[in-house]
Amino acid sequence: MNAEESVDLEQLMFVDEPMDGDGPRVHPAWLPPEAFRSLGARRVLVHGEGLLVDTVLDEVSRACARYGGLVWHSPSWDVDVDLVFALRDAAELPNPAVEAARAAGEAGLVELADGETLGDEGFVLARAGDVTVVLADAPAGLLYGLFHVVRLCAAAFDPARPPEWHRPALRRRMLNHWDNVAVHPVMGQVERGYAGGSIFWRDGRSRGDLDRVREYARLLASCGVNAISVNNVNVARTEALLLTERLGDVAEIADVLRRYGIRVHLSVSFAAPVVLGGLSTADPLDENVRVWWAATTRRVYERIPDFGGYLVKADSEGQPGPFTYGRDHADGANLLAEALAPHGGVVHWRAFVYNHHQDWRDRSTDRARAAYDHFAPLDGRFRTNVVVQVKFGPVDFQTREPISPVLAAMPATRLAVELQVTQEYTGQQRHVCHLGPWWSEVLSFAPWGPGGRTIADVVTGEAAAGGGMVAVANVGDDPFWTGHPLAQANLYTFGRLAWDPRRDPTTILDEWITLTFPPSATADAELVRRTLHEIMDDSWRTYERYTAPLGVGFMVNPGDHYGPGVDGYEYTRWGTYHFADRDGVGVDRTRASGTGFTGQYPPYWAQVYESPESCPDELLLFFHHVPYGHVLHSGSTVIQHIYDTHFAGVEEVTAMRRRWQRLNGMIDPSVYERVAERLEEQVRCATEWRDQINTYFFRKSGVPDERGRDIY
Ligand code: GCU
Repeated sequence: MNAEESVDLEQLMFVDEPMDGDGPRVHPAWLPPEAFRSLGARRVLVHGEGLLVDTVLDEVSRACARYGGLVWHSPSWDVDVDLVFALRDAAELPNPAVEAARAAGEAGLVELADGETLGDEGFVLARAGDVTVVLADAPAGLLYGLFHVVRLCAAAFDPARPPEWHRPALRRRMLNHWDNVAVHPVMGQVERGYAGGSIFWRDGRSRGDLDRVREYARLLASCGVNAISVNNVNVARTEALLLTERLGDVAEIADVLRRYGIRVHLSVSFAAPVVLGGLSTADPLDENVRVWWAATTRRVYERIPDFGGYLVKADSEGQPGPFTYGRDHADGANLLAEALAPHGGVVHWRAFVYNHHQDWRDRSTDRARAAYDHFAPLDGRFRTNVVVQVKFGPVDFQTREPISPVLAAMPATRLAVELQVTQEYTGQQRHVCHLGPWWSEVLSFAPWGPGGRTIADVVTGEAAAGGGMVAVANVGDDPFWTGHPLAQANLYTFGRLAWDPRRDPTTILDEWITLTFPPSATADAELVRRTLHEIMDDSWRTYERYTAPLGVGFMVNPGDHYGPGVDGYEYTRWGTYHFADRDGVGVDRTRASGTGFTGQYPPYWAQVYESPESCPDELLLFFHHVPYGHVLHSGSTVIQHIYDTHFAGVEEVTAMRRRWQRLNGMIDPSVYERVAERLEEQVRCATEWRDQINTYFFRKSGVPDERGRDIY
């Protein structure tokens, strides 16, 4: 393409540019046009063919149209370039500089990769003279390489930059949308959604706004996500139809996501053969049921050839499953896996299975034990295209839980770890709670003992055959995508950790800050960066300080799960109790005198967790019922720790609010205002937490605060 053609492209590109007009229709999150300035001012050559190569071309063209650069697609004449994106197997070009750059990329790859290949999604970045080159074996690699160049900004063009290569550690990096098609009478349009309505569905139908979906796909691709499920794991009647009658809606979404390397998955009802197929049973061993799933799945692939697969919540919280027919979860999962296998699809089968009709009087039943009790005995029975999807903790996405022992108990099964980006139990996107540090702790946990394999290793698997990382999404149709603008960082961080689970979360946050608040568009970039780190880096721990103490969990208002409700779940059927009385608090999960849950861990942790002497402070009340006077490793008593952390937590939130005020006038006023508003609510809510928790424990224990602060 020559300069004239690039002008045409400029016109084309600005037509659908969502940032134009009277201001941003939707906040650009971490891809504001400004983040493309460095790339957009260059002379860029894209070489290769394919859908995702076209996407790269499109992205580069938009940036160049805005910032004065030029773009060519496999030109048959010599051009001067600064940046090359090329597929390795694309034909030679009559362009010595480009060919020299490609040779430099190849040399870099030989030097770095040590016999390993780039795979379908990897890329190498190298310099040759004045040219930066990105090489990949497949178009997706070029797409990820493009966003890498965006992140690097000017550093991508540093003459001294040594060659580097990148490949995702995990094959599947997936988001689950808990979006309902029809508004659920209790859960609304998006279950546990805190960012408005669904970007896919509204009032029982597809929204049809594929521009927004396209913007979403860009954001996801730029942080590395390559799979999403588009409907809630709790599958009701209307949602079940996405598999059959309403498959067209899913296909339309798939068409848009495909352009950014993202595959669509569907949550399906295990009862679909009955509900949709008119059969009398959904028994996984029934021949007619198998035939129904095979035929239905074939039709899905006829419509969506790159369909990812099914996601299933079975025999859990009222969802149908194989137990109805006296079968187990391996029977259930294998049924769907068999239907998907000929097409290359996978089934994500959730391990979140427990008795939600527990009697609070019965202290022997332990919800924390359930996933392991159901799934560990099935290890080795799942087909290879089954991924057992395990919540990171044994209970339910709490601010602090031990790591699920299931993740260490199924060596012959592909396991995925499930995180919750939507902040159900972590402030519901009204509170700043940056989850990267927590997820990193989860991923670096070594369940067989220090120095051993980690959760990141488990989900990566041998030869990258592990189940990957999955998270419940946090976006909606809110103009800031995530309600709280700073919650965008959680989504970004999830993608980046799924690409490389060993990355430092603070570095990832720093990347997010630079992209979202580009230094060139900010009056004092250093102040913005410092302030955001001060507010966000430790915000998960701050949230922990003012909510349920020492790993005991819950204490939230039942139903909406927001705000304090210390006894809200104490006498319910849900199995989430703290057992506070006048003498002490916590759940005895030991083998010696409790529910025996500690015995589900490999020996090292089974022993550490068994004794209150060796159990880490932050998990003490998860594993033990102790007196209020019990002395922690920190030297404080349990009751004084509760008081101190709750006072400290509120002080930290007040400091966050003060710090944020420094940014008034420095950043986009709409972002400033939205965050300022939410910080007011966070201070209010944290204060409520502090006062209710402190008062509750003071009244139970009668032990005064040794510093004489206000307790009511
Ligand atoms: C939590 C959440 C539910 C959700 C469930 C799940 O219990 O509150 O809304 O359905 O997790 O993970 O399936």
